[in-house]
Amino acid sequence: MLLTLANILSADEVRQFRRHLDAAAWQDGAATAGSVARHVKHNQQLDAQDATGVQLGEHLLRRLGQTPQFISAALPRRIYPPKFNRYAGGGQYGAHVDAAIMQLPGSGQSLRTDLSATLFLTEPEEYEGGELEIEDAYGVQAVKLAAGDMVLYPATSLHRVTPVTAGARVAAFFWIESLVEDDRARTLLYDLDQTVQELTAGLGAQDARVLKLSGIYHNLVRRWAAT
Ligand code: NI
Repeated sequence: MLLTLANILSADEVRQFRRHLDAAAWQDGAATAGSVARHVKHNQQLDAQDATGVQLGEHLLRRLGQTPQFISAALPRRIYPPKFNRYAGGGQYGAHVDAAIMQLPGSGQSLRTDLSATLFLTEPEEYEGGELEIEDAYGVQAVKLAAGDMVLYPATSLHRVTPVTAGARVAAFFWIESLVEDDRARTLLYDLDQTVQELTAGLGAQDARVLKLSGIYHNLVRRWAAT
């Protein structure tokens, strides 16, 4: 499932993020790429230890925790601390698949990347190019969202960022290990949960059919959540 989530950050929060990021110490993104990705990655990133990046990443994680649609779609077990990148002057990231396993910074733990997320921090009219192109079962989807909006897609997808030929594209990106590894099962759960929410709004949470359907949802999560 490829899902866009609007207004994860407010316009005011985006302004604050941008003010900090405009003054941040950007580094060559190739330094953090694996041996295959290094040849196709041409952008800038903040170091994982960068104090500004860490602080903004924590703010973003708090917002995600307050976004029921994100929780419903991702069913997160663990979230990689958000990172930040910047593309300008023809910068691009050629076609690649993100690594399946990532080491969580500062811990001995690893994370299985089930979902990839990109949160846009610049408005589409601020730069030329810079589409996030994601290959899914229906072909290539070109994603270029308003600042503060986020796209969530299966980390198994081949994807690229097209060259930014004018202006600059700034974004946050991270990965999620989900309680439900299988994308198709996760998509069914999301659709069911959204339907239960709609029925609850119309019929009330105590309606017997709503209660029954809600129980089915939770029991499917129980069945499909990896142990
Ligand atoms: Ni990627």
